[in-house]
Amino acid sequence: MNILVTGANGQLGNEMRRMATGSSHRFIFTDVAELDITDLDAIRRCMTDNGIDIIVNCAAYTNVDKAEDDFQTADLINNKATESLAVAAAEHDATLIHVSTDYVFDGSACKPYAETEETRPAGVYGRTKLAGEQAAAATGCKLIVLRTAWLYSRWGNNFVKTMRRLTAERDELNVVFDQVGTPTFAGDLADAIGHIIESDQLGKTGIYHFSNEGVCSWYDFAVAIAEESGNTCDIHPIHSDEFPCKVRRPHYSVLDKTKFRTTFGYKIPHWYASMKKCINQLNESNGI
Ligand SMILES: NC(=O)c1ccc[n+]([C@@H]2O[C@H](COP(=O)([O-])OP(=O)(O)OC[C@H]3O[C@@H](n4cnc5c(N)ncnc54)[C@H](OP(=O)(O)O)[C@@H]3O)[C@@H](O)[C@H]2O)c1
Repeated sequence: MNILVTGANGQLGNEMRRMATGSSHRFIFTDVAELDITDLDAIRRCMTDNGIDIIVNCAAYTNVDKAEDDFQTADLINNKATESLAVAAAEHDATLIHVSTDYVFDGSACKPYAETEETRPAGVYGRTKLAGEQAAAATGCKLIVLRTAWLYSRWGNNFVKTMRRLTAERDELNVVFDQVGTPTFAGDLADAIGHIIESDQLGKTGIYHFSNEGVCSWYDFAVAIAEESGNTCDIHPIHSDEFPCKVRRPHYSVLDKTKFRTTFGYKIPHWYASMKKCINQLNESNGI
């Protein structure tokens, strides 16, 4: 099969590159320079030229705070471009595997979010991502939506890399303890996507939740990152209102992965084990 990966220079895209090594399928990796997903004609050309069977959409506007002042761009990439990918997928009878977010929920729950839970995004990023899911579904294309959360990897900027650096540089650090969720190692998400493709389960369309297993607060996550990095920084748990930011972050965003596990027959790693794996990768690559 011919598989188009968009946004391939991002965190998930880079892990898709690693995952694809050794696959018998042909992967075409693109980022905005090779394929701007806001350009429907360019998507159509790429689909035809390469005989694409599957699109894995890793491209997105992911700056949650910036999105609040830049609805147009966030909506163009997260919503309209997702619809364009779905339109092109439908025209070519291809499957679209699209990645979405826990930010489609407002975080007011107190039990893990199932896929059937009512969505209620609190900010522009979550609203545009939800609109993208819905617009893609409305095209009638073969669609698998994977909602994930707290994504990190050795690539780009993320919480693990920031905490690893700050806990090395500082003696003390404040981190919120009243926002609870589950981190997701982008490598694990890429492997899960690889599992769906390699085990030929693309027919199982629908919305699925995917993060690592377990639950923690950002504070717990920071403490674990510091410990595994060998840093002795004193980390203090603080409330969210002591750390103001533009968008209200969900207080509870644990995703229920039961549907993913049972549908695809897949064991998801625990967040701590995956965090250790990422720290080891960062150590080996000197933090780059
Ligand atoms: N990061 C998280 O914590 C998180 C949490 C939940 C869900 N997600 C979702 O998970 C997915 C992957 O996230 P990620 O962290 O890997 O994202 P990322 O690192 O920000 O990568 C996104 C990639 O898409 C590219 N891109 C932007 N606009 C594009 C366009 N018009 N055409 C083609 N490519 C374009 C970006 O390029 P530039 O860098 O040049 O803009 C970047 O290389 C996204 O759908 C995201 O919404 C992420």
